[in-house]
Amino acid sequence: MLRCESLKKEFYYGNSIQSVLRKVDLSVKKGEIITIMGKSGNGKTTLLNCLSLLESPDDGKIYYEDKLIDFNDTKNLEKFRRENIGYVFQNPNLIPCLNVVENLIIAIHEKQSYAKKRRKALEMLGLLGMVNKEKQSISTMSGGELQRVSILRALINNPKIIFCDEPTGALDEENSNNVMSILIKLTKMYNTTLVIVTHDQNVAKVGDNQYVMREGKLYESE
Ligand SMILES: Nc1ncnc2c1ncn2[C@@H]1O[C@H](COP(=O)(O)OP(=O)(O)OP(=O)(O)O)[C@@H](O)[C@H]1O
Ligand SMILES: [Mg+2]
Repeated sequence: MLRCESLKKEFYYGNSIQSVLRKVDLSVKKGEIITIMGKSGNGKTTLLNCLSLLESPDDGKIYYEDKLIDFNDTKNLEKFRRENIGYVFQNPNLIPCLNVVENLIIAIHEKQSYAKKRRKALEMLGLLGMVNKEKQSISTMSGGELQRVSILRALINNPKIIFCDEPTGALDEENSNNVMSILIKLTKMYNTTLVIVTHDQNVAKVGDNQYVMREGKLYESE
């Protein structure tokens, strides 16, 4: 499904350079769940941004279904991302001037009537028992609620792969378990591939393959 080879990413600060990804290799099969742990600042978000094609690596290759990604071909890159990739960001990044259901509706790419999109959005909210929050303003939602909405937003277009950057970071244990079981249930149902970055040992355990990021390199966790 997804493979990267010798992925490198550096950031420049005046005269100094920080090597954040130092030749990362990773292979993810279709339908597989991969989890990545690692200390803060070790490059986990940067890796997800590169793999999800939001950021271009400085060196190395990324293949989706054996097709090499061309980062210069921005038009096709956008299209590919829209059609295949979902992302649950570390910060939920929801649109504050829209309410909950509108945030989901606006994320739907397929050309459909507003009524149909709205039905789909409400159906998704129902999966997390949040239909009553439909019209709530984003600015008044709790951190955990925002995270749940952003998970629904990532799933709403049935992407082939979803990248989750600490999807349960703001949740208590009960909600964390709920969100994870829903995420896994839905992704198994659609055979979606999942790449999850987490600080939570319990979340990391759901990985078919579990990795640790250390000083810009990825290791299989013991
Ligand atoms: N756009 C950027 N410009 C400059 N430096 C950056 C940029 N993005 C990330 N960095 C730096 O790269 C390093 C890795 O950042 P990254 O966000 O990938 O870490 P992380 O492993 O996700 O950390 P956390 O667990 O705290 O989320 C950090 O030192 C960060 O300051
Ligand atoms: Mg991060």
